[in-house]
Amino acid sequence: MFSEADHTAMQRALALAERGMYITTPNPRVGCVLIRDGKVIGEGFTQPAGQDHAEIQAMKNAKARGFDVAGATAYVTLEPCSHVGRTPPCADALVRAGIARVVAAMEDPNPSVSGRGLQRLRDAGIDVRCGLLEREARELNIGFVSRMTRGQPWVRMKVAASLDGGTALHDGTSQWITGPAARDDGHLWRARACAILTGIGTVRDDDPQLTVRAVDTPRQPQRVVVDSRLELPLDARVLAPDSGEFARPVLIFCAVDDPERRAQLEARNAQVFCLPDARGKVDLAAMVAELGQRGINELHVEAGFKLNGSLIRAGCVDELLVYLAPKLLGDARGMFNLPPLARLADAPAYQWHDVRTIGDDVRLIARKATPIAGKALA
Ligand SMILES: NC(=O)c1ccc[n+]([C@@H]2O[C@H](COP(=O)([O-])OP(=O)(O)OC[C@H]3O[C@@H](n4cnc5c(N)ncnc54)[C@H](OP(=O)(O)O)[C@@H]3O)[C@@H](O)[C@H]2O)c1
Repeated sequence: MFSEADHTAMQRALALAERGMYITTPNPRVGCVLIRDGKVIGEGFTQPAGQDHAEIQAMKNAKARGFDVAGATAYVTLEPCSHVGRTPPCADALVRAGIARVVAAMEDPNPSVSGRGLQRLRDAGIDVRCGLLEREARELNIGFVSRMTRGQPWVRMKVAASLDGGTALHDGTSQWITGPAARDDGHLWRARACAILTGIGTVRDDDPQLTVRAVDTPRQPQRVVVDSRLELPLDARVLAPDSGEFARPVLIFCAVDDPERRAQLEARNAQVFCLPDARGKVDLAAMVAELGQRGINELHVEAGFKLNGSLIRAGCVDELLVYLAPKLLGDARGMFNLPPLARLADAPAYQWHDVRTIGDDVRLIARKATPIAGKALA
């Protein structure tokens, strides 16, 4: 159904989509290549929300290069949109421009598109194919797919540990267990996330900034702190405004409201949500759903073993991103505070997704079995 030339063009469209990795959120990362008579005449990728989608960028690019796009094939990594959001529908723009054929990697999981964009193109007489390199396209937008289909972000939990699973000494010291290459790699994952989450214990011990530093990005992820009793120090570094172009308040999730403390924090670049569960802790599943409501596609967790354990117990974690250093910490804090099991069969199970060395450390990615990433996922 798809030729070698189709594959080459879609691979190029995926590479273009990746160039939007840090900027398109909450929109998906999308790339588009226009080909006519075997020649690339236009290329584009989705810009920050409210600006051009990939198809429009590619058509503008073709025009700037002096090409007429009528009769061309458009390769897009996501079904062209059919609804009026912050920008007009791309499907209509492709029809108006006289595009002859559209090859899409995947249907748009957004319920307000979901096949309607492709149908609109078909209704206009365009030859439409879908499903080329779908797995790669889904991976690129795993958070967007998650939010559109489950109403919640894709939750990725990063842990840096010793070979025997230690993440911090008992006095809280944890800097640094892994090497510089692993830490830089960690910043790439931070950069692609819409939000970074930590717990009050980590703020107390490390006073982290929770910003992206090793990656050139115009956008800093939103910062989120789980802090049951609003104990966050007012001079915590996480409260300092970030340098990103799209700066937003730090979100603090608590379980016990304190109007005076809330006012102090909200006067310092924070927004407080009180979401208690029956035990008087933060209802973590409700928090994750709230973040989905707020347009968070990928949530990156960098917390200590207590909050890590709570998030796993609440069933909130989709992916574990674990860096292992070839050293032993002995009796130290572990990765996840989880209760003892009565039966091995009750162990939370994951599947290996990727294993590789990064500098002197090993990086492991394990995922919960989930339909989000599509059945083709290993
Ligand atoms: N190596 C790494 O990858 C890594 C990454 C981050 C941090 N760390 C290290 O981890 C250490 C801190 O560990 P930690 O476990 O104390 O910090 P943490 O997990 O970041 O935060 C602990 C806090 O989370 C709270 N918590 C847990 N479940 C909760 C829930 N459902 N609702 C509300 N609050 C909840 C606990 O509250 P309660 O006390 O009320 O239960 C606890 O105060 C530091 O030494 C830091 O350096 C290591």
